[in-house]
Amino acid sequence: MPYVSFLRYAALASHAYLPTYTTTDRGDPLTGLKILGTGSYVPENSVTNKMFECIVDTSDEWISSRTGIKARCISDGETDLFMARTAAESAIKCAKVKKSEIGVIICATITNEYITPSLSCLLQRDLALKEEALVFDINAACSGFVYALNLAYSLLRSSSGKYALIVGSEVLSKIVDFSDRDTCVLFGDGAGAVVVKLCRNAPFLFNAGAKGDDNLLYCPGIIRKKSPFSKTDHEQAPPFLHMDGSEVFRFAVDSIKKSVTAVLDKARLKPEDIDHFVLHQANARIINMAAKRLGAPPDKFFMNIYKRGNTSAASIPIALDELNKSGKLKKGEKIILAGFGAGLTYGAVYFSW
Ligand code: ACO
Repeated sequence: MPYVSFLRYAALASHAYLPTYTTTDRGDPLTGLKILGTGSYVPENSVTNKMFECIVDTSDEWISSRTGIKARCISDGETDLFMARTAAESAIKCAKVKKSEIGVIICATITNEYITPSLSCLLQRDLALKEEALVFDINAACSGFVYALNLAYSLLRSSSGKYALIVGSEVLSKIVDFSDRDTCVLFGDGAGAVVVKLCRNAPFLFNAGAKGDDNLLYCPGIIRKKSPFSKTDHEQAPPFLHMDGSEVFRFAVDSIKKSVTAVLDKARLKPEDIDHFVLHQANARIINMAAKRLGAPPDKFFMNIYKRGNTSAASIPIALDELNKSGKLKKGEKIILAGFGAGLTYGAVYFSW
């Protein structure tokens, strides 16, 4: 082996020549994650703040100034499955991949029609995806999509599939109490999807966490029925979302700062090095405050909350698709996604376009 090649070989073996971002936190060299295609679907039925003035004691002025929301799309019969399928078909088309090479299918949702089967299994059936795949849903609320990206990254490393399909799909209007002004004006419905693959020399860094809590943000589950064997009646609240807005606001800003700073540190980057921040769209004030706390220019933070509201696990992939389709994403640009929400959960990922 010539001397120069030997040096190059030695550097390769120690990974010393690699920029730090090509190494994951576990110390695994070389392989990151690339998003190949995006897709989304939102219901046609756009509901303005003015329309809420007719059903609860609120005003367009209050909603816009406290949240940045002007309208949100609310399902008029579209199911999680219909929206997930439409978004996924569009992402697969955009990625130009063979459906038969998709080996991981993950849906992030808290509103699937069924307790079982999972939304992912129904998506596999409807899209005629292959049988030999890992197919399951995750419940991490508004952090679901970033959790799912990291899961896909790990699973692709050990599965035979070449690509992973990740979908966030929510019909939140099913679990919103439309007589509760504290919550009903905030949420919207929709789905977003991406197709990803492992890619050499692509950065992919992740940070996430949870602070288990069923007081600040929760939605009761299946109504418990008295069984023929129980002695007492169990009272249970109807399945509607409940939220302590100001506490969740504080948690959101803190967790964004924490998780985004963690991935920036791992990547040895500064906020100004990032081209696009795509945060969970819960409140424009949360996004602006997070930008300020991070010391990053607010114009790098994508926002579609004014027309979409908070769509939980669907919000980040919908935002990513809208950013992508607007033509504003350029090859090689550095992107950070960050989610936070019920659980309480939070997480951020860094990758390049
Ligand atoms: N219209 C008019 N007044 C309202 C409305 C409304 N729709 N909703 C609440 N108010 C009133 C309250 O009753 C309260 O009145 P009071 O002072 O007389 O008691 C007043 O407005 C102020 O309420 P706050 O809760 O202090 O208002 P705040 O400025 O905190 O805004 C909001 C509330 C928008 C909910 C904000 O706290 C927020 O965005 N929180 C975070 C939400 C979030 O990030 N959720 C995350 C994930 S969701 C998921 O995981 C599914």
